Amino acid sequence: MALKRAILRLEWSPANNLPRCPVSYRFHLTTVPLILLLATPAAAEPDPRILVELPAPMQAHMLQNMRGHLEVLDRLLLLLAEGRLDAAADLAESELGMSSLEKHGASHMAPFYPQGMQQAGTRMHRSASRFSRIAQEGDVLAAYKSLREITAACTACHAGYRVR
Ligand code: HEC
Repeated sequence: MALKRAILRLEWSPANNLPRCPVSYRFHLTTVPLILLLATPAAAEPDPRILVELPAPMQAHMLQNMRGHLEVLDRLLLLLAEGRLDAAADLAESELGMSSLEKHGASHMAPFYPQGMQQAGTRMHRSASRFSRIAQEGDVLAAYKSLREITAACTACHAGYRVR
């Protein structure tokens, strides 16, 4: 326990007339290394996602679509919480469902995507159209469950692919 004695001496010794840092030595000795350890990027971990290289304007467009998708999910959650299932059904179909493909320039983008990524995209659009039909039936719990099928499709694609 020599270290502990040393800490106590540093903190309490009246002979210690160094200017005192406002943060305790114990904080420095324990918490600071922990913060450094947690902040160290896991550089050794290889990234398992497939890199899909897109021309720069297309990448920007795709990421913009993505941010739009997240916004739609946020709005869907609000509409469900407010019990406005018809509005949720319309929003999901027009912004994420099969009806939204042209709006997102899907036919233009798809040829740049590997097949697995295209399938993940189709799965997401299909789940959104399915959500829309279920929401129209008016059962809010069933609608939440079906919304989760959409988010599962988002996360499945994110786990497999990256663009940068
Ligand atoms: C077909 C594949 C695919 C699907 C489906 C998909 N994404 Fe993405 N998304 C990506 C890729 C690839 C990236 C870029 C990741 C990277 O390179 O870091 C991305 C990035 C994003 C980003 C970050 C945007 C930015 O500006 O950096 C958000 C937010 C996002 N996606 C939301 C969603 C949401 C919400 C859904 C589902 C409704 C979804 N995505 C569905 C492939 C997909």
